[in-house]
Amino acid sequence: MLSDVIDLLADPVDGTPLRAGDGSWRTLVSESGHSYDVARQGYVTLAGGAGLRYTGDDADMITARESFLSGGHFAPFVEAVSDTVNDVLDDAHVTEDDRPAIVEIGAGTGYYLAHTLDSVPGSRGIGVDVSVPAAKRLASCHRRVGAVVADAWSRLPLRDGCIDVLTVIFAPRNAAEFSRVLTPEGQVVVLTPEAGHLAELRAPLGIIDVEAGKVDRMISQASGYLVPVGDPESIEFVMRLDQASIAAQIGMSPSARHIHPKVLAERIADLPPVMEVTARATVTRLGRDPRTLGFNGS
Ligand SMILES: C[S@@+](CC[C@H](N)C(=O)[O-])C[C@H]1O[C@@H](n2cnc3c(N)ncnc32)[C@H](O)[C@@H]1O
Repeated sequence: MLSDVIDLLADPVDGTPLRAGDGSWRTLVSESGHSYDVARQGYVTLAGGAGLRYTGDDADMITARESFLSGGHFAPFVEAVSDTVNDVLDDAHVTEDDRPAIVEIGAGTGYYLAHTLDSVPGSRGIGVDVSVPAAKRLASCHRRVGAVVADAWSRLPLRDGCIDVLTVIFAPRNAAEFSRVLTPEGQVVVLTPEAGHLAELRAPLGIIDVEAGKVDRMISQASGYLVPVGDPESIEFVMRLDQASIAAQIGMSPSARHIHPKVLAERIADLPPVMEVTARATVTRLGRDPRTLGFNGS
């Protein structure tokens, strides 16, 4: 709920702290007097003056994501993210009593965030997504999650230096903002798809492959704000997917927008009833570039 994370939230316009506007959590109000309505589903839209430039995943994509993830096909990815978050917190000596603050950017349905919070005692989380259908799911994905509609490419509605771990799973990364909101010991945990991810589906369905060198590019783009911690870890496993699961997998991805639904349905119907499909991604830990830290380490 938003009340669990209000001490982490900030006005997207000027960064001043937010508080409950009327004690009943119907609005959030900043120190500078800006007011943001809390939707009846429990999420809040925190966008600056220009509003949101993107709409993110639409309702059909979010439904497809929920359907695919509920099949447990990505369980090894979820475990890798949760384990890495726990490693980051252990390394930073953040304990249950510290109420670890975990934020997922582009959090979708909240599947990863909810699992991560379950694996970290005492933690609370913020799911940030620019998609309203996603935020509706996020608001109810876990009792310790606050759901926020915001654009990852704008000023994040988070206070400086207060987030212990930021997770980014197949979603946009804004290194400058991530560096600003992390604690000095805080880190970003990024799950990036690798070339070969879903390889067996590419040719029959006509979807494009993940380009090679994605992780190296991500690290170089973050330079000046974030630096890698340790070596990236590759995760690869084989999923057994029936046609309905394949349809959900494609429906939750950008490919869904590029192939006519009828054509896609025909191509899926031509596949074997069950296929073995490779999942391949890399987990990378990034900490604040020491050059962004002040003399007192803050
Ligand atoms: C590929 S999905 C990943 C969702 C989730 N992390 C997962 O793996 O289940 C990417 C998510 O990022 C969101 N997104 C896209 N652009 C965004 C932006 N500029 N700011 C915030 N979220 C964004 C989409 O709405 C979508 O929910």
